Amino acid sequence: MGKSDGDSFFCSQPRKMVSMTKFEIIYLTGFRGTGKTSIGTLLAKSLGRTVIDLDGVVAANAGKSIREIFQQDGESSFRDLETTALESVAQTSNSVISLGGGAVLRDINRSIIQSTGICFWLQCDAETIAERLQQDEATGDQRPALTKLDELQEIRQLLQTRQAKYEDVADHRINTKGRSIEQVAEAILERLTQDRAS
Ligand code: S3P
Repeated sequence: MGKSDGDSFFCSQPRKMVSMTKFEIIYLTGFRGTGKTSIGTLLAKSLGRTVIDLDGVVAANAGKSIREIFQQDGESSFRDLETTALESVAQTSNSVISLGGGAVLRDINRSIIQSTGICFWLQCDAETIAERLQQDEATGDQRPALTKLDELQEIRQLLQTRQAKYEDVADHRINTKGRSIEQVAEAILERLTQDRAS
């Protein structure tokens, strides 16, 4: 596992070798509210790639919102749909895929991600995430409660329990706190250029 990145913008996960085939798909992972969808859209535009939002695929396949899937069928059904959607989008090429914040939970998902693309982990602290979620219109349809805790406690707890999964799946991690969407996208582009050259 890479060293703690503190406030630094970027931290590569030094244990991994990134091969050229890993550029086939660019995956963005990280907790809710870390900017995966907006940054993914900008990145795809800059690279002339297709952007795919994994939650969007899940909702389209199910014919209902993420919140409805959770309410009517439960989280475990949602996770099954998520894996099915990931298996299908992992077969695309030249794409940028914004993952749902919990897509890293299953071993099979992490193994699909690692074997089909390069993965960037967008990090942020719990307080900033809570603020962003309150301001984001997508929260209503897309982000049902995942625990019985209040929002900030839930974010803190899940960040802690998911940390090792994000570390496991990511090739690079980026601290997004205090950075604009454009700055983070630019940093990812720079990192891709460096990886390509090495
Ligand atoms: C989830 C995050 C959501 C969505 C679902 C579950 C999670 O995606 O997949 O509500 O477990 O963290 P975003 O990270 O895009 O909000």
